[in-house]
Amino acid sequence: MDLILRNARIRGHDKNVDIAVNDGLITKIAPKITTRPRQVIDCAGKLVSPPFTDIHVHLDAVLTVGQPRFNQTGTLIEGIEIWAERKKTLTFDDVKRRATLAVKWELAHGVTRIRSHVDVCDPDLTAVKTLLEVKKEFAGLVDLQLVAFPQDGIYAFPKGERLMKQAMELGCDIVGGIPHHEMTRDDGVADVKFACDLAQQFQAKLDLHIDETDDPHSRFTEVLAAETIKRGLSGRVTASHTTSMHSVDNAYAFKLIRLIKRAGLHMVTNPCDNSVLQGRFDTYPKRRGHTRVKELLAAGVNVGIGHDSIMDPWYPLGVGDPVQVAFVWIHYGQMSGATEIPQVWDMITTNPARAFGATDKTYGIIVGNPADLVLLDAETEFDALRRIAPRLLVIRNGQIVARTTPSETVLCPKGWKKEAIDFRI
Ligand code: FE2
Repeated sequence: MDLILRNARIRGHDKNVDIAVNDGLITKIAPKITTRPRQVIDCAGKLVSPPFTDIHVHLDAVLTVGQPRFNQTGTLIEGIEIWAERKKTLTFDDVKRRATLAVKWELAHGVTRIRSHVDVCDPDLTAVKTLLEVKKEFAGLVDLQLVAFPQDGIYAFPKGERLMKQAMELGCDIVGGIPHHEMTRDDGVADVKFACDLAQQFQAKLDLHIDETDDPHSRFTEVLAAETIKRGLSGRVTASHTTSMHSVDNAYAFKLIRLIKRAGLHMVTNPCDNSVLQGRFDTYPKRRGHTRVKELLAAGVNVGIGHDSIMDPWYPLGVGDPVQVAFVWIHYGQMSGATEIPQVWDMITTNPARAFGATDKTYGIIVGNPADLVLLDAETEFDALRRIAPRLLVIRNGQIVARTTPSETVLCPKGWKKEAIDFRI
């Protein structure tokens, strides 16, 4: 036996357990495993979680904040304009350096699956070609899915259809879209239908930026849900952002949520970006401008949280940590109830893993599954979220791939005996 994690707290077990790992797989979970392995890790009653999935990020744009200028209005549109300027200067080395660093940040935080949208509105497709290389380099450590994403529109950008197709031919995994950003409603509908056609042609999944606006008349999610049902694509389609759902009336939201459920859409919410981008045209009261997560969850829809931006023209902060993003969402989505906080943990673990394509056989702390595990410096998910607790160890296929040493804080006023301060209770 290669490894035993002793005295681990895992969800679904009343008492702490030992987890045995051999040949990269979880081979036993029991209160006390007596076999002698090559390596023992004492978890000291701390939480061991399945790894995180970042189901929505833009690795081509990461770490470009301020280049060539900062987003003064804070709007999505100014972000797109700034990115269009920065995009002209992209090189292979530039994209590779930034994307590689961001993926390393995510891995250090326990992320082993990343879905990155890649802007295809560039005649050279520089970012697509580069991220395909990054994907290869991280194989076995971080599973990377690339979405062909038409940032400037399939019809509002010259040769948009051709670029989308080229990106899929080059090796993108998933077809994207951006119907709300097309010039007309009709073009937006065409955007959705083209994406569905292309996905069927390549037998690929879909993940569209859709209805990312405060405009309640932006209603392309219903088109995507209807196409999903008519074409039998259920389970293969993700709707990202859908912030206009915040602003529609309740009767329409009721209809739409039923349609989303029937279509089996996966929904992705991006709280960091949309908390700063939405409501920018409001005076007071200001809308939160977010999709209706609680209602979607209550209807049994799969909802995951994405990071979206890490230091780019749309969102200037971030360290590639899903727990930090979930912390933001607890506030922004008002999911602070006793049963809601564990639900938020699911939104960065099991729910996005499902949208990514993981199954019960490939994901989760279950005997026979790959030993992909994250040891946190916290005893519960609640405490991990409260303190955005360090990830002490990240284990992929039974191998330790990241290690974090928690910092130590000491109170030391003059005349006091030095006192180590612990933020755990
Ligand atoms: Fe996005």
